[in-house]
Amino acid sequence: MSAVKSPILESKIPDHLLRVSDLDPGILPGLLDLAQAMKREPLGWADSLRGAAIGCIFEKPSTRTRVSLAVAAGRLGMPAVVVSRDELQLGHGETVADTARVLSSYLDAITMRTFEHEVVEEMAQASAVPVINALSNSHHPFQSLADLLALREHFGPLDGLTAAFIGDGRSNTCNSFLSACAASGMHLAIASPPGYQTDTEVLNEARETMAQSGGTVSLMTEPEEAVCNAQAVYAEVWVSMDKHHEAGERKTDLARYRVDEQLLAHAPRDAVALHCLPAVRDQEITSDVLDGPHCLAWHQAANRLPTAQAVLHTLITARQQRTV
Ligand code: CP
Repeated sequence: MSAVKSPILESKIPDHLLRVSDLDPGILPGLLDLAQAMKREPLGWADSLRGAAIGCIFEKPSTRTRVSLAVAAGRLGMPAVVVSRDELQLGHGETVADTARVLSSYLDAITMRTFEHEVVEEMAQASAVPVINALSNSHHPFQSLADLLALREHFGPLDGLTAAFIGDGRSNTCNSFLSACAASGMHLAIASPPGYQTDTEVLNEARETMAQSGGTVSLMTEPEEAVCNAQAVYAEVWVSMDKHHEAGERKTDLARYRVDEQLLAHAPRDAVALHCLPAVRDQEITSDVLDGPHCLAWHQAANRLPTAQAVLHTLITARQQRTV
């Protein structure tokens, strides 16, 4: 097993990971170091969770999260039971709490992708094992950890890095990226049209964290203003999985919030583009940017695997140590 640079203080490891702010900013570098080590040596932890098992409940489609979780579990020596809500009694009237209680007696962690964030909160409240949010309408912590790892690999230390988020400032991706920037001492500018600006609660929480980390966040409407100092420019899908009923309105509202070469011409020359994928090519991001040499989207996607591995290992190991 590889040595990792920053040890993760066990007392700071949360019982559950539902949002990025569940992670004490102090353990974030250690978690990223562990993910980096697992990326370098994928099988270095091959037997570390032998005998354990995770459940992965998906109420929405997924490519990256679903597959990376299953492979991450395998690399830690444990099976992943991947099921849709409809395959469980959960989809046929059994409550979230009863499901959590029963699954806790078989599994060592439950990951769940759902709609309302309150569902993962309810699952966590009734679960005796770690519950990890694999995306809710409000938060996507796995994505942000992979984003931070990609940025750190490209730029080095995250502290002081500048980024812009272009599009829906209330999206789960934006909420989690903002919290991740806050914990890392980054400076984030969010450009959104009126009606799409980041919720006050998420913003205030990030600003509290930034008061300690030295990061900053600013909200604006003009994408050109947001990118003018940004080393990384995050493009966000216009119509996410829970928003299909608003597709026409959202495409109109967000039409100016495309990350293309014209927008990036306003950014510093070394700026990179970010995207959590799946992308709608030539809608929120153009193919020339997505496939270009300054796009980290493919690194973000690849990093979903080692960051999932690090999160599972950290939370499950901590819970095992607390219950001996
Ligand atoms: N970025 C992301 O979560 O991808 P999937 O929806 O494919 O899991």
